[in-house]
Amino acid sequence: MQKLIKLLCVIGTRPEAIKMSPLINLLKGDNNFEVKVLTTGQHTDMLRQALAFFNIKADFDLNIMRERQSLDYITSSVLTGVGRYLDENSQDIILVHGDTSTTFAAALAGFYRKIPVGHVEAGLRSKNIYLPFPEEINRVLADRIASLYFAPTELDAENLKHEGSDPSKIFVTGNTVIDALFWTLSNKLNNNINFENDAPLILMTAHRRESWGEPLVQICHAVKDIINARPDVKFLIPLHKNPTVREVIYKELKDFNNNIIFTEPLDYPDFVAAMNKSIFILSDSGGIQEEASALRKPVLIMRTLSERPQAVTLGTGVLVGTDRNKILEQALKILNNKDYREYFLTRGMPFGDGTACLKIRDIILNYFKF
Ligand code: UD1
Ligand code: UDP
Repeated sequence: MQKLIKLLCVIGTRPEAIKMSPLINLLKGDNNFEVKVLTTGQHTDMLRQALAFFNIKADFDLNIMRERQSLDYITSSVLTGVGRYLDENSQDIILVHGDTSTTFAAALAGFYRKIPVGHVEAGLRSKNIYLPFPEEINRVLADRIASLYFAPTELDAENLKHEGSDPSKIFVTGNTVIDALFWTLSNKLNNNINFENDAPLILMTAHRRESWGEPLVQICHAVKDIINARPDVKFLIPLHKNPTVREVIYKELKDFNNNIIFTEPLDYPDFVAAMNKSIFILSDSGGIQEEASALRKPVLIMRTLSERPQAVTLGTGVLVGTDRNKILEQALKILNNKDYREYFLTRGMPFGDGTACLKIRDIILNYFKF
């Protein structure tokens, strides 16, 4: 009988759950693999919410989350917790995703035991170690450790080659978020959200660490400016669970409840429905930049640079930073100019075609000579 590949997926936050779920389900359905899922619990509710949607139950949960947790705390507790799990449960390969502190610490735990690490969403670079913070360094370090690189695009693969990673271990697969999105669009969209009326809907999310404090206040001012300029618009703001973020947004914007619907984090299919319904998206999220391009929705990216530069060069998104005037200017351009809105329909889809998971599975099988 052929030996099974013992594969451990380590995930900790909402985007890792959404982007890894289609791959986990594919691998679980393949007889060549024995798949285990370890959740670090860097996120609790938001992680469980995403996994529940894809029908995935963790085999083991480190349950580390604390309120307002520090980076030192996340990194050290994930390193120790994943390390202990690996000492008790031997593995042939570990898969990590993206750029969170879970990603880096889990990769390091694998490296300390000389277990090959596959990095899904490898090679993204802003080339500024503080933007986004601490994600740029998390992914650089995960890539130093990895044995297999699943780069979403050619550009990400080029970044890895320039840094000296072994070219024979770098594969361009597309981003698994597009697999998750397409699967959701064709199977599970249920429009639970009541969009009330036909007011132009603007979907807004914000959570990045580098925006904490004054930049987040500026973002809120920009929302007020947009409402003052166009009182007919409705904002939908699903608040991230992080108290450092939600307290500021709520305090700044609570008096605008005629124009703003605040919600808890939405279930993934509801969030996809909201993206579809919106006239544009205002966000600092990484994943949403990718999804917006596949849905051909304009996204105003509240960052000064992006590790997904194709969004900007192809024009599927516009960098507006956290400057309230820039945000207002671009928002009004989209709201008031039909030709500009239609321009976004023609911009292409740089982040994948929905077949990333199949490619990753085949690459892992080939790596183990199956
Ligand atoms: C984390 C990741 C970030 C990723 C984001 C996705 C790091 C350092 N940051 O940022 O890269 O883009 O997730 O959303 O890896 N909380 C809850 N319930 C939850 C989740 C969070 O209460 O389900 C609260 C807790 O108080 C927690 C805080 O949010 O301490 C911050 O969580 P943390 O994972 O440290 O940072 P995020 O900003 O969520
Ligand atoms: N998302 C969701 N519900 C929400 C907000 C976001 O399901 O209320 C999804 C979104 O579609 C994307 C992912 O969460 O796939 C992005 O997560 P987040 O912005 O927290 O992290 P980032 O992508 O910035 O790392």
